[in-house]
Amino acid sequence: MIHLKVTNLQKRFGGNHVLKGVNFEINGPELIGLIGPNGAGKTTMTNILDGAIKPTSGTVYLGEKRIDQLQPFEVARAGLGRTFQVTRSFRRMTVLENLYVPALAMGNTHGQAELRDKAMGVLEFLTIDHLRNEYAQALSGGQQKLLELGRLLMLNPDVIILDEPFAGVHPRLMEVIYAYIQRVNDEGKAIIIISHQMDSIFSLSQRLLVLNFGDLIADGPPEDVKNDPAVIEAYLGAEEGEEAPA
Ligand SMILES: Nc1ncnc2c1ncn2[C@@H]1O[C@H](COP(=O)(O)OP(=O)(O)O)[C@@H](O)[C@H]1O
Ligand SMILES: [Mg+2]
Repeated sequence: MIHLKVTNLQKRFGGNHVLKGVNFEINGPELIGLIGPNGAGKTTMTNILDGAIKPTSGTVYLGEKRIDQLQPFEVARAGLGRTFQVTRSFRRMTVLENLYVPALAMGNTHGQAELRDKAMGVLEFLTIDHLRNEYAQALSGGQQKLLELGRLLMLNPDVIILDEPFAGVHPRLMEVIYAYIQRVNDEGKAIIIISHQMDSIFSLSQRLLVLNFGDLIADGPPEDVKNDPAVIEAYLGAEEGEEAPA
């Protein structure tokens, strides 16, 4: 059973108090949306959860294991993976090679043929198998996002965090990403989706977290959160008639 527990998580960058004591738990294969204004601390929290940076205080447990002091590869091995708001791939490797890297880095125990089969299955699902021998740098922005989702699938994590997976993505590829999220969730994984695209977030999420400048101001079913006066004031209302922040 998946159990992620975040307790009193704080982060300061100098005088900037970016996370002010965040608490939440994930129990089982929940599909969670994380929203909040630009600069609220969503990416910073993701960076702490995946081990890229250390919290100023507080703890993160994945199951029985404390993960907030681990390195990213150790966190990945423990079962938590994420994608990046700005995609990261090995630009001078092919698409297929990009998928091998995480598996090999984690100490792939399978044979070469099995690894290739798995990678090809992932690429087919993401509709980019025809690009397998292209260099990653030749891919469009949306295809790069799919590649990153593919790299995550190769690791088979229990908990995945997608940081702005829909930003700048063509509608057709968005459908692929939707299907990806549903499939990965159906396979029993917990997912946190960070997005400003309210339509996507409200249609996908079973539960919504709202981060407002370091404080978690709401945590509950999307319908409740949508009508929460504090949320409307802090975030939803403020955006009326404006373009969603990047
Ligand atoms: N590495 C860093 N060093 C200093 N300040 C940072 C760093 N990363 C993020 N911040 C600051 O933390 C705040 C939250 O940023 P971020 O987590 O990226 O917000 P969000 O993803 O919700 O838009 C911002 O004020 C940002 O400038
Ligand atoms: Mg961000």
